[in-house]
Amino acid sequence: MMVRKLDLTNFRCYPALRLELPAGLVVVTGPNASGKSSLLEAIFVASAGRSQRATRDSELVMWGAKDARVEALFEREPGRDLDVVFELETSGGPRKRLIAGGKPVRRAAELLSRVPLVLFTPADLQLAQAAPVVRRRFMNLALARLRPAYADDLARYGRALMQRNRLLAMGAGETELRPWTAQMIAAGAEVAVARRRFTEEIGVLAAGVHASLAGESEKLGVDYSGNLTAEDAPAAAEQYAALLNRSMSEEARMRRTLVGPHRDDLRLTLGGQSLRRFGSQGQQRTAALALKLAEAELIKRETGAPPLLLLDDCLSELDEGRASHVLGLTESYGQLIVTSAAREAALERASAAMWLHLRGGEVERVE
Ligand SMILES: Nc1ncnc2c1ncn2[C@@H]1O[C@H](COP(=O)(O)OP(=O)(O)OP(=O)(O)O)[C@@H](O)[C@H]1O
Ligand SMILES: [Mg+2]
Repeated sequence: MMVRKLDLTNFRCYPALRLELPAGLVVVTGPNASGKSSLLEAIFVASAGRSQRATRDSELVMWGAKDARVEALFEREPGRDLDVVFELETSGGPRKRLIAGGKPVRRAAELLSRVPLVLFTPADLQLAQAAPVVRRRFMNLALARLRPAYADDLARYGRALMQRNRLLAMGAGETELRPWTAQMIAAGAEVAVARRRFTEEIGVLAAGVHASLAGESEKLGVDYSGNLTAEDAPAAAEQYAALLNRSMSEEARMRRTLVGPHRDDLRLTLGGQSLRRFGSQGQQRTAALALKLAEAELIKRETGAPPLLLLDDCLSELDEGRASHVLGLTESYGQLIVTSAAREAALERASAAMWLHLRGGEVERVE
């Protein structure tokens, strides 16, 4: 997967930008606040219908402007293009339009699996020490890219959980809760089983990536940590129902749902020790990078095509050996776009297909 053309209008700090990008390694350098992250964010937006960092869509619109537009031409494999348009209007309340291959996209989740892409940002470096919700988001995004049905199950689970919590907060009894409990169990069982399988698959790949990144160090462990341990959905549903039965009186007292995938976590360990509690900063960052690269590997394995890989400002956090190793991945990926505020030594030595330098909203090509 690669992005061949990018066309931005009033997106963040870009009033108008048109870029054509080659396959291979694309390096984007520029001082702080020159628009490096915004460029990668625009590509992410065209693959997900939303930003990975903005809390509100309207933040993407250039200050003082009314509408923002991103158009990206993706190439899945030679001859198979997908043109994605993302449009945001803020006059008269925010309105979003998403068009892929000339047809409106009804739900943004549909796009995720059609544009396989993995973005790694400085925020992702926190994956190991962040709160569990951050690791659940990691699983959710990766799974939605791999399996469109997962996003549906997750949305159904979220809706049922919210309704059930609303009723519990009002002091509702078991009979009133029942329809939502049934939906929550059915969708929650699917979510939990998908996450468990994903964790097993990505765990093996992440340990491999980690070993090649960190050399002969301790083994990275990735384990699913959740209430539902069953192997398949029917068994997980049975288990969920039994757990809910057992926590009925506690739930009535606490006035919320106490068991289920909304409390899941990923347990990350190095040589058996919790990375969150004992890992050094460098160990935590390397583990986070290994997980994201493993996600890319998994997409490659399951869909037969390597995803587009975007690395925002991560090289400076790694030592030179690790940075060079990451840049070397270009050989197995169609396209790798890397941003950096500094001209890292590893970048100077890598052979970039294109090198862009950003300065005050202007893009210049460095030969
Ligand atoms: N909606 C917006 N409209 C106009 N400018 C914006 C908007 N959102 C952010 N900016 C500005 O765009 C500039 C570029 O931000 P960006 O995060 O892309 O920079 P960067 O090159 O990644 O910087 P750093 O090296 O510090 O990470 C910043 O000055 C930021 O304040
Ligand atoms: Mg940045």
